[in-house]
Amino acid sequence: MAWKPSIDLRGPLRQRRANANPVSLHHFLPSAVADMDLQGLQHRRILLGVSGGIAAYKACELTRRLREAGAEVRVALTANAARFVTPLTFQALSGQPVRADLWDEAAEMGMGHLELARWAQRIVIAPASADVIAKLAHGFADDLLTTLCLASEAPLAIAPAMNHRMWRHPATQANIATLRTRGVAILGPEDGPLAEGESGPGRLMEPQAIAAVLAQQESTARANGRLGGVRVLIDAGPTYEDIDPVRFLGNRSSGRMGFAMAQAALDAGAQVTLVAGPVHLSTPPGAARIDVRSAREMREAVVAAAVEADIFIATAAVADWRPQQASAHKLKKGQAADTLSLIENPDILAEVAARANRPFVVGFAAETKDLERNAREKLARKKLDVIAANEVGADRGIDTDDNALHLYWNGGQQMLARAPKPQLASALIDRIATLYASRRDGR
Ligand code: C5P
Repeated sequence: MAWKPSIDLRGPLRQRRANANPVSLHHFLPSAVADMDLQGLQHRRILLGVSGGIAAYKACELTRRLREAGAEVRVALTANAARFVTPLTFQALSGQPVRADLWDEAAEMGMGHLELARWAQRIVIAPASADVIAKLAHGFADDLLTTLCLASEAPLAIAPAMNHRMWRHPATQANIATLRTRGVAILGPEDGPLAEGESGPGRLMEPQAIAAVLAQQESTARANGRLGGVRVLIDAGPTYEDIDPVRFLGNRSSGRMGFAMAQAALDAGAQVTLVAGPVHLSTPPGAARIDVRSAREMREAVVAAAVEADIFIATAAVADWRPQQASAHKLKKGQAADTLSLIENPDILAEVAARANRPFVVGFAAETKDLERNAREKLARKKLDVIAANEVGADRGIDTDDNALHLYWNGGQQMLARAPKPQLASALIDRIATLYASRRDGR
């Protein structure tokens, strides 16, 4: 069977490939791809599966490349891979605990394997041995890695590496064909010298090239995403209401949920405008960010941007009140009790929802009791399309890493189980995309 490269590499690489001696293909790959754009990997949650084979050491380099590109990486090793490279090496490189066993009780207490399968936005197995390829093709789930692949809905890419006779064997080729028909991306293998002193197709694709292909797949997935071409406006974080030049009224909102929503909307292909109160978070790449301080500044920015928005998601913890008048000078002790009277801030969400040509509007509700009743009342009163409600307390909801949400809309509801905010945001964006599409298409 004739071997041919199984992925579509981009321009510069393809041109060089045309001029190259196929046997030395791997020699130029690192420099050819060094300048490739890995932007698409920023903030992506990638599960790297490593199976047994001498090429397992190259998975260390891949871990490093993916992290340098801004991805979060978690590594799952097969038992055979752990004979070639220790879990500790991957732990140090990924900065995360490494899994090598389905029955590891301590690891299950940290993040169970099903959670890990849900966590992953993309799975790549590099190197993928003939054995793992056969198991995947036939749906085996007899170890951690194959179980994760079966339990995850994330797109799967494999980079085979093996002896060239094993690669060419009709059994392996049939398994590869099966995986390809299921949409698994087959990266390589490259043709060249192999570990045993032989030469042929079976070399692991170079880590930098694997990273470049994954980045390309991410960019393409975004372009074709569920919110491709949709303009999403998000407000996030607290607002600060000045009392005097050094004091303000604020709240404990960190902005993390809103920023995670911005990232998830970008991942789904949306054009995102993010109006941010005072927060200490970096802008998700690709979002247009407008920084504001007070509720009135936030209102002004949101109302102006809403004209151009298809969806408005109000995650901000807008201060309900502000001092009637901010003092031009620092108040002296004892003065405040006499001078601090508060007035109500504008309700930004309700104002956008009341407009004639309004976007699809999503509100948040932080409640300490009667969650559903209060959320549904808010949904109706503020004329929202969806409300995402959560219970807040000392260590729940606000200024925390994870959260749980109850979504309510007219005629439906959905519970999103406790999860880290980025994952929760992906699930929420998914639901919003579905409801938005049915609204837009009049269904
Ligand atoms: O009424 P409540 O403050 O609980 O409503 C919460 C929702 O309303 C959130 O989506 C929040 O961003 C939005 N909101 C607003 N302007 C305000 C108060 C709340 O946009 N002044």
